[in-house]
Amino acid sequence: MLVECSVYSLLLCTLGCIVIFFFLLGNLWGLLQATRAILAPFFLPHEETSLVKKYGTWALITGSTDGIGKAYAHELAKRGLNIVLVSRNEDKLQKVAQELELKHSVKTKIITADFSMGPKAINVIKDEIRIFDIGILVNNVGKNYDYPMFLHEVSEKDLWDIININVGAVTLLSRHFVEEMKKKGRGAIVNVSSGSELQPLPLMTVYAATKAYIKSFTTALRYEYAKDGLTIQHLSPMFINTKMNQFSHRLQVSSTFVPDATTYAKYAASTLGKMDVSTGYWTHGIQYFFMNMVPVWMRTYIGGHLNKSFRQDYFASQAKQEINAKLK
Ligand SMILES: NC(=O)c1ccc[n+]([C@@H]2O[C@H](COP(=O)([O-])OP(=O)(O)OC[C@H]3O[C@@H](n4cnc5c(N)ncnc54)[C@H](OP(=O)(O)O)[C@@H]3O)[C@@H](O)[C@H]2O)c1
Repeated sequence: MLVECSVYSLLLCTLGCIVIFFFLLGNLWGLLQATRAILAPFFLPHEETSLVKKYGTWALITGSTDGIGKAYAHELAKRGLNIVLVSRNEDKLQKVAQELELKHSVKTKIITADFSMGPKAINVIKDEIRIFDIGILVNNVGKNYDYPMFLHEVSEKDLWDIININVGAVTLLSRHFVEEMKKKGRGAIVNVSSGSELQPLPLMTVYAATKAYIKSFTTALRYEYAKDGLTIQHLSPMFINTKMNQFSHRLQVSSTFVPDATTYAKYAASTLGKMDVSTGYWTHGIQYFFMNMVPVWMRTYIGGHLNKSFRQDYFASQAKQEINAKLK
């Protein structure tokens, strides 16, 4: 009896050690890559290569007239890259292009395309960039619900747009560019996911599902093309103070855990070419690490609860606006 018991204990102990080993390995690898990315410029300067030298002179960024995309465009331009900006609004595109040219003395090109149009938008881009040697593609564009909603409350159009923009555009643009980059033997694709990829997210059900797709897609894509010399980076930010989160006043105040887009992009861009997988910001890395330790069912519950509170924020601010409008 005693012998049987000690055999079971030994088996359980071994199993526990294996689980802990793989858990730590997964997380420590990210930590090591992050440490290396921070320290390399000081201790391994000979290994530091500029993004232009490594990938080429032009970068294309989708959704680049606001938020993370616009800030990321500034970061790449600061590093000497010429920028192709893609969004829906021509006036905003021209304004951002001018800012980039004036501030960083780089060349720019603007492309007006609406990713909710599916392959039509991708064809517009393919036509426009035919003569450009794009070294970096940043699949940043994304759409979320206007505020946390139950599925039946979201319009069919919005649901279809979210799938076209968050999944379709990333898939088709990646397909086009890996082919081009593979021929050249160099290039980088950055796919912007979200911390919501970590678990199903009630009241943002479809948005989170599209981001889980990005995680899976990007990981497998790296496996397929890393051997061809391509960098395929998976970026998964937590909350950032941008217009996407306008539904809650709590997410419209920048803080250590909810940085503004400029602060976020500064860190995120510095991980390019150094980390295959990153949240892009140090406090987001801490959040991701601890969230990952909690069971999925509990994270789903917490996420749903948080979204219910954001929904209340949204309704409260709508009510306030209505009262103010009546008083005027
Ligand atoms: N903000 C966050 O807390 C957060 C957290 C995690 C992940 N993310 C991800 O980060 C990415 C950027 O988010 P963000 O917060 O920076 O968003 P944002 O501030 O709302 O900016 C979105 C950008 O995409 C463009 N855009 C929107 N719909 C488009 C369409 N149909 N076709 C072409 N361009 C379109 C917008 O420009 P126009 O309106 O001028 O076209 C704008 O430049 C998204 O993939 C998002 O899921 C954000």
